[in-house]
Amino acid sequence: MEFAHVSVLLSECMDVLNIRPDGVYVDGTAGGAGHSREIAKRLTSGRLIAIDKDPDAVKTAKERLAPYSQSTVVQSDFYRIPEILEELGIPGVDGILLDLGVSSYQFDNPERGFSYNYDAKLDMRMSQSGLSAYDIVNTYAVPDLERILREFSEEKFAYKIARNIERARQQAPVETTFQLVEIIKQSIPAAARREGGHPAKRAFQALRIAVNGELDSLSRCLDTAFDCLNPGGRFAIITFQSLEDRMVKQKFKALCTGCTCPPDFPVCICGKTPRAKLVTRKPVEAGKEELEKNNRSHSARLRAVEKIK
Ligand SMILES: C[S@@+](CC[C@H](N)C(=O)[O-])C[C@H]1O[C@@H](n2cnc3c(N)ncnc32)[C@H](O)[C@@H]1O
Ligand SMILES: [Zn+2]
Repeated sequence: MEFAHVSVLLSECMDVLNIRPDGVYVDGTAGGAGHSREIAKRLTSGRLIAIDKDPDAVKTAKERLAPYSQSTVVQSDFYRIPEILEELGIPGVDGILLDLGVSSYQFDNPERGFSYNYDAKLDMRMSQSGLSAYDIVNTYAVPDLERILREFSEEKFAYKIARNIERARQQAPVETTFQLVEIIKQSIPAAARREGGHPAKRAFQALRIAVNGELDSLSRCLDTAFDCLNPGGRFAIITFQSLEDRMVKQKFKALCTGCTCPPDFPVCICGKTPRAKLVTRKPVEAGKEELEKNNRSHSARLRAVEKIK
């Protein structure tokens, strides 16, 4: 299957990253190398480190970046950016980009088990290793399943779905995406099922976030990757859902404020000063033309900060 994925906010990302031909950049979510290639094209003596945890994405990124000798592709989780740079002997970088979530290739590839639209073995692992959606659905206790569904997608019928999963697996393991879709449909009242898109959309998103530890990776990356930036370097992140966007917004706000005193302190006693400034006051969203062409762009929000010199 061809690696098809239309990159979102491509020119906007290049603008906010402010690529310098001699700069060093990290793309933490290389995917089909759409953003990576745009960065690589702009480099002369600079360097690009493109990272993805999915072996299929790494293979594609290697092929697509082969003409650009300034690029290095690494299979890893982006929370390991500091270690990866250390292993490569790179002391600091001028820009880091994260384009979060799954690629269209992953989502539309039936074999990967991400989609409620195709019948496939439950899987959803970006890295193609470790805990899968099958393991979570068939082994997690009802309260844990319920928590995943509620916390990661605000699923109103989390408890009902979790209970019905337990009931189903007492007969036989829930093997496939369509078996899970059926359980979810039966757990949601008919009136609610008719609202807001596919009834399994939220539950599948929640499971995917849990399988891939998505919020944990983002949180760890937000805590450590900023330190890898050179003064004047930029950190740009595209999110597609509110949980992630809130995490990015709060972290960037904290970096731009500096102070880490509890909010109820009348005056600052930590004395910490801002470490970054916002590149754009508001998140950047797709323009009319992109919205018409690419459905994925509807929920995309790009935020960026610059490390103070
Ligand atoms: C939206 S796609 C990126 C598409 C890419 N920007 C392009 O233009 O082709 C997200 C990619 O990030 C990868 N990914 C998601 N979370 C990751 C993580 N924690 N570490 C490394 N890669 C991750 C996924 O495997 C997927 O290939
Ligand atoms: Zn303070």
